[in-house]
Amino acid sequence: MKKLSVDISNIYRFVPEAGIKSLESSIIQFQEALHKKTGPGNDFLGWVNLPSSIKKDQLVDLRETASRLRKKVNVLVVIGIGGSYLGAKAVIEALSHNFSCLKKGEQSPKVIFAGQNLDEDYLSELLEVLENTEYAIAVISKSGTTTEPAVAFRILKAHLEGKVGKNKAKELIVAITDEKKGALKKLADIEGFKTFVIPDDTGGRYSVLTPVGLLAIAFAGFDIEKLVEGAREMDKLTELNVPCWENPAAVYAAARNALYASGKKIEILANYNNKLIYFSEWWKQLYGESEGKDGKGIFPASVTFTADLHSMGQYIQEGERHIFETVISVKNPSRKLTIPHDPDNHDELNFLSGKRIGEVNKMAELGTMLAHIDGGVPNIRIEINDISEYSLGQLIYFFEKACGISGYILGVNPFNQPGVEAYKKNMFALLEKPGFENESKKIKARL
Ligand code: PA5
Repeated sequence: MKKLSVDISNIYRFVPEAGIKSLESSIIQFQEALHKKTGPGNDFLGWVNLPSSIKKDQLVDLRETASRLRKKVNVLVVIGIGGSYLGAKAVIEALSHNFSCLKKGEQSPKVIFAGQNLDEDYLSELLEVLENTEYAIAVISKSGTTTEPAVAFRILKAHLEGKVGKNKAKELIVAITDEKKGALKKLADIEGFKTFVIPDDTGGRYSVLTPVGLLAIAFAGFDIEKLVEGAREMDKLTELNVPCWENPAAVYAAARNALYASGKKIEILANYNNKLIYFSEWWKQLYGESEGKDGKGIFPASVTFTADLHSMGQYIQEGERHIFETVISVKNPSRKLTIPHDPDNHDELNFLSGKRIGEVNKMAELGTMLAHIDGGVPNIRIEINDISEYSLGQLIYFFEKACGISGYILGVNPFNQPGVEAYKKNMFALLEKPGFENESKKIKARL
């Protein structure tokens, strides 16, 4: 099977190769800290061995639960936010037909999402469509206390119970949460929902290869075994005994940190495939939440080309030079479409006749890379073979491993997110949550 590869040769005009190579001894040390669980955040390193430690019967249980639900309903509403949302969304969007909503004559299973916002219109419109839809719910929260998914679940649980009755609803609800603690665990036990456990030592944004991502991906009809197999392959390619510069995660982590140290504070993840838009969202969460702390961190941004070449392309080419670009390059499109010959050639496009759209896309990619390098934007290129379960599994684990190493190079704990609490505290104070009386008084005085 084709392996993911990383090319950093197009950053050497901006940061000397020797500077990157000088990171070798720290990287070896940080790789060890990840594998031996000796670094900051070491109680959240379960994801490091996750691909190799997932048991066959766990995957079978997930697949069977998904197919049990699929026999009953065609729609699964996945309720979750952050790491309890983006992994499944990214993989499902990447593997789904671009126009699945318009495909006729096929009752393909649909996964939709809720609890990732507090948008009244979103939830109201969701309820409106669910009125005439048979659906099941997968509610996901590691802490079991996150407000957004808890609110959505309260509303959707009541809706489903009202629609099919409490007993039938119970069969259609799956809770994915902590093994022992949290309000969701308590509720699931009282109500008797089927549950899956989120491992204690795996944080939200590193949890896509746990039931958090896998149940929804299986429900959508994709091969979770192949996804895990891809991750397992990457686990091997980035193991402790792999020489530093043969380890793609180490290479990427070193390159982005060297660029950051040279003043490139923003990393733009670019893709040329519409299906990868949400993969970029997952990546932004992974890197933003892992590295943005202690007054440090590369700001993760994303673009989808060629669309965004006609908007953000101007800035990337000529704006402030504090950016670098990381391109996810997909070697093989899944489909084949050739540009036809037109004898009239009024559109003057006959120079493209007979060429595949993917070939034109590749030339756009190559041309853009060279233009951006010439414009002062260093380029990292990550190539995957195709958009398949196996390649995505590799890419997911690659980014996770690189993020762990990268966070340690930066000198932060990449596995916590203390900054997320600040908005919650204010929101609870403004909403007069019991226990927040003092904060309520203080915050109201500020308004
Ligand atoms: O990466 C993280 O830890 C966060 O983004 C969480 O996934 C997110 O806040 C949701 O948390 P929970 O699953 O506890 O509801």
